[in-house]
Amino acid sequence: MDDLIRRIAALKKEKNAIVLAHTYTRAEVQDIADVVGDSFELAVRAAGSSAEIIVLAGVRFMGETAAILTPGRTVLLPVADADCPLADMITSDQVRHLKAQYPGAAVACYVNSSVEVKALSDVCVTSSSAVRIVRNLPQRQVLFVPDQNLGSWVAEQVPEKEIILHSGFCPVHHQIKPDDVRDARKLFPGAVVLMHPECTKETRAEADHILSTGGMVALVKEKKHTRYIIVTESGITHTLRRHDPAAEFIELSAPMLYCQNMKKITLETILRALDEGETVVTVASDIAERARYALSRMLELNR
Ligand code: 13P
Ligand code: SF4
Repeated sequence: MDDLIRRIAALKKEKNAIVLAHTYTRAEVQDIADVVGDSFELAVRAAGSSAEIIVLAGVRFMGETAAILTPGRTVLLPVADADCPLADMITSDQVRHLKAQYPGAAVACYVNSSVEVKALSDVCVTSSSAVRIVRNLPQRQVLFVPDQNLGSWVAEQVPEKEIILHSGFCPVHHQIKPDDVRDARKLFPGAVVLMHPECTKETRAEADHILSTGGMVALVKEKKHTRYIIVTESGITHTLRRHDPAAEFIELSAPMLYCQNMKKITLETILRALDEGETVVTVASDIAERARYALSRMLELNR
């Protein structure tokens, strides 16, 4: 492992490369990353970076987002088929159909989506920015795609808008049941429950705080609590422990709180990506241009 870490560090320097890693990646991947963050932070840091090569240790839509926001530079995905199943739960034809049904509505698309869907959208959102952005949209009616759970959470927070939901969901978060949380609370009294908005409405009712992964990091950094039950993908407990080593982080024992695609990324695949320059993320220029509009608007409206 030490040899892998040394070789990655040397290649990063030699090639003017940085590694951006999502909080759901493996602990050893987070440990060699230049930035560990949620999907919004990774997009912002990619856009603001001057590195010639950006290795996106995350799933494909994150690499595509980085590539669209950094034209002229190289974005590498360590594993080409690290996909997010949620991102494939709506097609561009379905978006066109919805737009025809609701011609006055804005289309807000979660970044967990394909480039083609982004290209048809008025704005992209992430879990940390969705509420603010939807609130700031000039339209009252909003088509929210593809995640039904994040969309229903936004609808609860922004009651002045009419939100039309699509049926997509994250397989990791959608299967968590209210009882999974209640059982954990019984076992760990006094723990504060932090939950991702991709959980269902019924499960969200059991949370103390509904937060994006970046929001969880921010709350833990305040060091106001000493015991947490974490209701999202398990990789984040490593990130959280780094920010408050004295606190106790309990992972929910619900089966499969594990994003198989995020876990495909290993130190070996990062080394190979840097060494061989593979796999370069490419997006057709006409689609990239339209998707860049929705992504840039996400950065603008998040205030
Ligand atoms: P964040 O926006 O919190 O990083 O979440 C991305 C994601 O894929 C959640 O499952
Ligand atoms: Fe996609 Fe869910 Fe994995 Fe996030 S946790 S990348 S939404 S499958």
